[in-house]
Amino acid sequence: MCGIVGYVGSAPVAATILESLRRLEYRGYDSAGIAVLNGHGIDVRKRAGKLKELAAAVAARPLQGRVGLGHTRWATHGAPSEVNAHPHVDCAGRIALVHNGIIENYAELTARLQAAGHRFRSQTDTEVIAHLIEEHAKRLPFPKAFRAALQELRGSYAVCVVAEDEPERLYGARHGSPLIVGVGRGEAFLASDVPAVLSHTRQVMYLNDREMVELGRDRLRLTTLAGTPLRRNATRVTWDVAAAQKGGFRHFMLKEIHEQPHALSQTVGNRLDARAGRIGFDRATRQFLDRFTSADKLAIIACGTAYHAGLVGEYMLEEFAKIPVDVDLASEFRYRGPMLDRRTTVVAISQSGETADTLAGIRLAKAQGARVLAICNTVGSSITRESDAVIYTHAGPEIAVASTKAYTSQVGVLTLLALHLARQRRQVKEPQWRDWLHTLARLPQLVERALKAEAAIKRIAKRYAAAKNFYYLGRRYHYPSALEGALKLKEICPSIHAEGYAAGEMKHGPISCIREGWPVVVLALDSPVYDKVLSNIQEVRARRGSCIVIASEGNRGIARHADALITVPRTPELVSPILAAIPLQLLAYHIAKWNGCDIDQPPNLAKSVTVE
Ligand code: AGP
Repeated sequence: MCGIVGYVGSAPVAATILESLRRLEYRGYDSAGIAVLNGHGIDVRKRAGKLKELAAAVAARPLQGRVGLGHTRWATHGAPSEVNAHPHVDCAGRIALVHNGIIENYAELTARLQAAGHRFRSQTDTEVIAHLIEEHAKRLPFPKAFRAALQELRGSYAVCVVAEDEPERLYGARHGSPLIVGVGRGEAFLASDVPAVLSHTRQVMYLNDREMVELGRDRLRLTTLAGTPLRRNATRVTWDVAAAQKGGFRHFMLKEIHEQPHALSQTVGNRLDARAGRIGFDRATRQFLDRFTSADKLAIIACGTAYHAGLVGEYMLEEFAKIPVDVDLASEFRYRGPMLDRRTTVVAISQSGETADTLAGIRLAKAQGARVLAICNTVGSSITRESDAVIYTHAGPEIAVASTKAYTSQVGVLTLLALHLARQRRQVKEPQWRDWLHTLARLPQLVERALKAEAAIKRIAKRYAAAKNFYYLGRRYHYPSALEGALKLKEICPSIHAEGYAAGEMKHGPISCIREGWPVVVLALDSPVYDKVLSNIQEVRARRGSCIVIASEGNRGIARHADALITVPRTPELVSPILAAIPLQLLAYHIAKWNGCDIDQPPNLAKSVTVE
């Protein structure tokens, strides 16, 4: 959950690395560092805090060179201090490296190296790699020493290394954490993610686990960790750097909220084949789904927001396609001994495609003979490469830590999947099918209309911004909506505690906390359980709680039950989780803004959770 960058070429190295690190800051931002080979040795600058602190340090004492590496950190081992910031160097200061991942056997390796005389400076699990390479380099040339060191590591890593003895070279390797090569003209990059290299090149090569790469200005040598040479072509990235910038919005999160009509037209609209009256998944996905039989069951795994999308998917797949579905947090799934076999299809949902727990769940599923379908936003990511089939969400790059458009796109794909399987299993009659397709075709416009409530939501946010606790309640499809709404708020506004509950659970405990003015966001959109939700509102208000109600447009009766009312277009329940997400995201955003929060980079979080 850190961002790493390496550069070899003729551009000014520090400026190039800092620019690339800025595009990776979403991966971690508690400290940062840079190291440059300057022709005489390795020059290192590190700072605690955000990247701008490092940029100021580099501006005060510039770095010169043609080869270097940089890091933006999300601490796992050792506090976010200057000494723990990467790059880390060996005893002699002749090897510098940056790392993303966790070295699980660092303690035993450290003890061994300390006994051999190595002096450690930090509390990280990373520094040991530099000393281990140094130790092997006493008897091996550098590339072999690097390889020998990697073979001793347990855990996950993407590493990028420079060495004084190799003044024109940059080395990288991955096992369990993402690493890509940006292939330019007379220059090359290593990076955790594509946006880091996009302003220089669109030619990208993805590394697989247990692979190592040696880069020079005009050299690229890819091997396995065992040293076997590999051949792989770079692929061309089709989206550009503008798609990963703020475009006039104050925050990435707000930009991404407003991108949802477009994202959903990519995710859903482009897959509706109205003329043929079918959902146009690509051939590989159709073939994968065609093999689904009546004896099969589904297991959905995901983390965080993607897990909430999975819960919505469970309701839809069971209701429309009549398929039994289990949904698990990937972090639990991998340790609970799930019973899987060839009749199980595991659906793994992930925006980044790099979430360590979800990836581990996929590996476990495959080892037990299950088939894996990924729903993912990031082309070429580890999860897409390890799955048997992929449905891309095509939401475009999501930079803000709080997921918005990726969530609605995931729900969009799950809706398509549920309807496709309903038809495949003959669970739907033609008029109903046509209605569904018609509703889905209108989805981008409906979301556009839901966004128009922003001014009203901003006023409501101001009214409640000082509250310290929020509840979110919903039933059926809006139970996951309630979980997601609460997650959005607590994620970007850390001074507020927010919990989401199934509205029917209130009486079983949470209601005891309600007191005068306690804000409760209630999802009361049109649904078969609307009357029950209305009763839950009465229960809250009877205890003087304050209900912010999200309801369907045209519901005249609801206003007298609401302390604050937000409406979204009236639609069939099928698409209501997507519409409900819009006011929930805007409410969280504006409450956080009134509270002066760091919205795109909330404390203690990172966009991509590549460690367990
Ligand atoms: C969402 O707002 C969060 N940042 C987080 O819960 C996220 O959804 C989770 O870490 C899963 O990430 P993924 O979709 O990239 O796998």
